[in-house]
Amino acid sequence: MSRVFRVPLAPIRGGATTAPRTPAPPPASTRPGIVAGCLSPHPPHLIYGENPPQNEPRSTGGWETLRWAYERLRARIREVHKPDVLIVHAPHWITMVGHHVNCVPNPRGLSVEPIFPHLFRYRYDFRTDVELGEAIADEASGLGLVTRKLRDPRVRVDYATIGALHLANPAWDIPVVSLSANNNPYFYSDASLTEMEVLGEATRRAVEATGRRAVLLASNSLSHLHWHEEPELPEDMEREHPYNNHQYRWDMKLLEAIRRGPTAPLRDLIPEHIEATASETKAGSLTWMLAAMGWPKVAGDVLGYGTIIGTGNAIVEWLPEGSHHG
Ligand SMILES: [Fe+2]
Repeated sequence: MSRVFRVPLAPIRGGATTAPRTPAPPPASTRPGIVAGCLSPHPPHLIYGENPPQNEPRSTGGWETLRWAYERLRARIREVHKPDVLIVHAPHWITMVGHHVNCVPNPRGLSVEPIFPHLFRYRYDFRTDVELGEAIADEASGLGLVTRKLRDPRVRVDYATIGALHLANPAWDIPVVSLSANNNPYFYSDASLTEMEVLGEATRRAVEATGRRAVLLASNSLSHLHWHEEPELPEDMEREHPYNNHQYRWDMKLLEAIRRGPTAPLRDLIPEHIEATASETKAGSLTWMLAAMGWPKVAGDVLGYGTIIGTGNAIVEWLPEGSHHG
């Protein structure tokens, strides 16, 4: 689209330049809106394997191919998308009633993974885009969702939110809006995924109304059956493989559809995949993100896939319709 509106450059030689008659549109790198959506799973093992200064436990590595995929995603976020804000929907900030938006300006504290405290004890300190968070909550309320703005500065941010945000942007220099997972889907099967469509619509409206450039992060693993015993060395990669071939095949079925595009068929396939694999997408993050992007007629770019204690994890990037990597 930018080519259509591109104004020819004035000649370098020949003295005076002529001002273009119509103003050029802003380049793609500064245009507001949702500029990318990413499936960005949060297993604490990836942060443990990376040994960032914020995380107390130390490792000898592990899960490298997934971590390298995240490195490529980070480069795209920093160098191509250049967002004003990262908006994350995470399944372990569970709210029993309604959808909550973290509107605390500067959450700080220690995030501990309750099942793997020996892998993840992470000190966080980040900025919230409060204006956008409030706008999302207001739009969601306006569309009929039960919504709440979290204001308590003592909030302890869950590891799924911290995990996805660290892995997408370990410098933490981009403001954040974080959304809770209303846990209805766990009680009512996939019926409440329709509610995530509404939350997605509210998110898109708020991003456009506030003129932000936003990257969305859906903090979900795929197939979700996992081992119940840990090796002595947690990062012993000899022990890492898919939980079983059924789980793996279903992850591939979903990823092949993602790679093929468009996204519309995923509306039916995501609930089937949840049914077959106990996928963590049941929490709704992936549906929220694709709905916010208007279920674009594009293929997703699968940057990497690997298992973590047997669960399937993919890092995927979708661009909005009409844009592409130059
Ligand atoms: Fe999780």
